[in-house]
Amino acid sequence: MGQGELRGVVALDGPSGTGKSTVARRLAATLRSGYLDTGAMYRAITLAVLRDGVDPADGAAVLRVAEQAELHIGTDPNHADVRLAGEDVAAEIRGRKVTLAVSAVSAVPRVRELLVARQRQLISEARARIGGIVVEGRDIGTVVVPDAGLKVYLTASADARASRRTKQDSREGRTSTVDATLADVERRDRLDSTRAASPLRPAVDAVEIDTTDLDIRAVLDRLLDIVRDRGLRGTAARSAGR
Ligand code: DC
Repeated sequence: MGQGELRGVVALDGPSGTGKSTVARRLAATLRSGYLDTGAMYRAITLAVLRDGVDPADGAAVLRVAEQAELHIGTDPNHADVRLAGEDVAAEIRGRKVTLAVSAVSAVPRVRELLVARQRQLISEARARIGGIVVEGRDIGTVVVPDAGLKVYLTASADARASRRTKQDSREGRTSTVDATLADVERRDRLDSTRAASPLRPAVDAVEIDTTDLDIRAVLDRLLDIVRDRGLRGTAARSAGR
């Protein structure tokens, strides 16, 4: 496989509903780089926990499930590939049951260690294969890849995030109301930013972008400018001969 146009890692962090996933996937597709959705990894482990009938608040039991789960996650921005023991769970991990339990699972420090090690491995494989990768999550710039070439932290008002989440749910065939989603969003923000292990916060050197009044295209254009200005965009032809 040839090299893409991104050199190194773009770390994209922030709470849900900021447009993070869409922007990350499109940025990776535009630059023909890899793409890693680390939230999908926490969600898949959460699904395994729920399927095993384990209490998400029981850290030791959750860790055992995480250690045994046969989790596969792809890094192609054009194809969401999340599997548990070979079964495609890409849609099921977006459901409400998983969304409600994922903060408890992702607060278990040893589960984070396990997944962070997997994430670093996937990142280095993608870099070796195609030169660069866009990684999205909550702790990418602070913990997973603290030396990323570009760290971005997306924010947006809670109302804007809840309304985007509701629209996304309806597009993907789930029913929800803005009020219920707003309550979920605020609850998850609180849990994710107050947990002891790797709480959600911007890296000191992250570029912060408030997306409340910006559409996806505007955010994407801004990121492409920064990637170019930082010299992280190489041409595929040049790097292929390296
Ligand atoms: O991005 P998302 O909504 O799919 O993430 C699901 C949950 O996983 C979110 O509530 C916080 C957690 N998460 C995390 O703790 N660290 C990450 N790097 C990614 C997600």
